[in-house]
Amino acid sequence: MVSHQQVRTQSLPEQDSQMEHGFLGYRSTFMLDFVVSALVLIVPLLLFSLYTVKIQRNFSLHKKLQIVLGAVLLVAVSAFEIDVQIMHGGWQNIVNQRETPLTLEQFQDVRNILYVHLIFAVSTPFFWATTLFLALRRIPNPPAPCAHSSLHKKLGWISTIDITLTSLTGLYWYYMAFVTSV
Ligand code: HEM
Repeated sequence: MVSHQQVRTQSLPEQDSQMEHGFLGYRSTFMLDFVVSALVLIVPLLLFSLYTVKIQRNFSLHKKLQIVLGAVLLVAVSAFEIDVQIMHGGWQNIVNQRETPLTLEQFQDVRNILYVHLIFAVSTPFFWATTLFLALRRIPNPPAPCAHSSLHKKLGWISTIDITLTSLTGLYWYYMAFVTSV
């Protein structure tokens, strides 16, 4: 386990000066702010997709929306991982860009929130991919209720709840890591 002191010494002054900050006004990164924006947008879009399927029974629009949401998620998460892991050498280095460093206690809180976030963030792509893959294979084209509906609804709701919790915990992490001051 990396201690807070070790973490702070990993961030060299020259490395800090090379880092570009995000567009939301905090000492984050462009990609982190991009993913945070995507996480904010995804929940209303998902609610709209559920409205199209449950209320309007517009299955084709629901199908298109879910495929687009899946593609956006895939691109955002891949770009984010490349940015955080490869470009910045881990989330600790990004958090260390703060003008007011986090206290040890705050740093530990941020790390624990991240662990909870990761439970949802890691499981979501698996549920999402399974839901999408099975729906594309088993639901007729044009889409309509069928023998797969019952399983699809279960997987669909699990994916929906999982991505919502990914979003909420991710936003809370961002707030604790960059927005709060000491
Ligand atoms: C990961 C992607 C998807 C998610 C999270 C998702 C989610 C959902 C959810 C939660 C429902 C149930 C709504 C209710 O309670 O009535 C539903 C229904 C439905 N979805 Fe999806 N969906 C996805 C992809 C797709 C795709 C790709 C298709 C078409 C190929 C599709 C076709 C349908 C249909 C036809 C229903 C209505 C089932 C019925 O009422 O019998 N979905 N979806």
